[in-house]
Amino acid sequence: MKLPVESGNSSDRRPQLLAISDLHVSHEENRRIVEELRPTSDGDWLIVAGDVGELSEQITWALRTLSERFAQVIWSPGNHELWTPKEDPVQLRGVERYEYLVDVCRGLGVLTPEDPYPLWEGDGGPVRIAPLFLLYDYTFRTPTAANKAQSLEQAYEAGVVCTDEFFLHPDPYAGREDWCAARVALTERRLAECDPDVPLVLVNHWPLLREPTRVLRYPEFAQWCGTELTADWHRRFNTAVAVYGHLHIPRTTWHDGVRFEEVSVGYPREWKRPGHPRNVPRPVLVP
Ligand SMILES: [Fe+2]
Ligand SMILES: [Fe+2]
Repeated sequence: MKLPVESGNSSDRRPQLLAISDLHVSHEENRRIVEELRPTSDGDWLIVAGDVGELSEQITWALRTLSERFAQVIWSPGNHELWTPKEDPVQLRGVERYEYLVDVCRGLGVLTPEDPYPLWEGDGGPVRIAPLFLLYDYTFRTPTAANKAQSLEQAYEAGVVCTDEFFLHPDPYAGREDWCAARVALTERRLAECDPDVPLVLVNHWPLLREPTRVLRYPEFAQWCGTELTADWHRRFNTAVAVYGHLHIPRTTWHDGVRFEEVSVGYPREWKRPGHPRNVPRPVLVP
């Protein structure tokens, strides 16, 4: 991976707002990426947009390691952190697992979607950084499906089923789509309360709109990638940049004049592929 290289005196450099996601530290080679990840200046902030890992101990290790190096780490959860793997001593499910991870972050000084949105006042600022946790609701369904059930059925037929179906429990909600609806409603209220004159960096593991999923190799997978409920948020709210991951397709796209940054590391088999851009962590505001 391309990593910021420390050379000379890092305190001489101007602080940057950086973003990365999908560290997937259960893979040894990805753990090494975290071990080698360093800020370029003493004042760098790092956004970690979900999928750090699955086991609570590994997630804590990665966030602690990064929080000791960066002036501020900001985390929003991915689907993998929300799994309850059988081998994890922490057997909490759904909302309780999320709240456990938020508590871990609080102990490390890492900001989460449950904290006031911090203001970045360095280069490219001021911007307010809003880590979001919105999940998905199966509305990015296959073109011929009339509803969630049909869309899921087609995914099973195609053999493209997200592991969330087995390990991401929505408790106490009846379904992941109900948890998503609650998160969207809560988050929408908080964003509406933000000063509209201060641009936002919206950080969500899943893309806020469907367009970025059009390049997925398996289109059936899109139903686990977001919700139509947020399709206009980058226009409704004063958005400087939208940061996301989950797709493991790191790239920059523009939607209605708003820049979207997919900042995933992905699995070793992905980032080792010839032609992979290896362009994370990525400066969010001043390219
Ligand atoms: Fe991922
Ligand atoms: Fe993900």
